[in-house]
Amino acid sequence: MTVSEIVEKRGNSRENLIQILHDIQDVSGDNSLHKDKIEELSKLMDLNVADIVGTASFYTMFSLVPRGKHIIRLCDSPPCYIMGSDNILEALEKKLGIKMGATTEDGMFTLEPTSCLGVCGVAPALMIDEEVYGNLTNEKVNGIIDGIRAG
Ligand code: FES
Repeated sequence: MTVSEIVEKRGNSRENLIQILHDIQDVSGDNSLHKDKIEELSKLMDLNVADIVGTASFYTMFSLVPRGKHIIRLCDSPPCYIMGSDNILEALEKKLGIKMGATTEDGMFTLEPTSCLGVCGVAPALMIDEEVYGNLTNEKVNGIIDGIRAG
């Protein structure tokens, strides 16, 4: 789907900007907002590029740099931390072979921190793309990653 098709579908008013940015990022192929697409959007919506970049930078779900196909967001808020999110981070970094904030060489995963996902009752928790996983253990995390890799 092109930027103009997305804008046409959502409507070009300012209140639709977040949803439009989501759609553009979803079809980017690398989970990010490309400079040329933002420039195109700026013309279509009659908004400043700086305004769009400012909005995109404010929300952690958007990225201006290329990311993996799947975004892993590990909760680092206190309830998850107390329940061992630091151990989960260690297990994830080992499993993926990357540090927090990085993307795997095969472009499959980007590991990012997030604040509370709203499921503290099953802490420690993480979110991969749109799906939330709780009651994490090292074994469970390894199984989740293997499952996604296996498709
Ligand atoms: S603190 Fe991690 S889900 Fe709420």
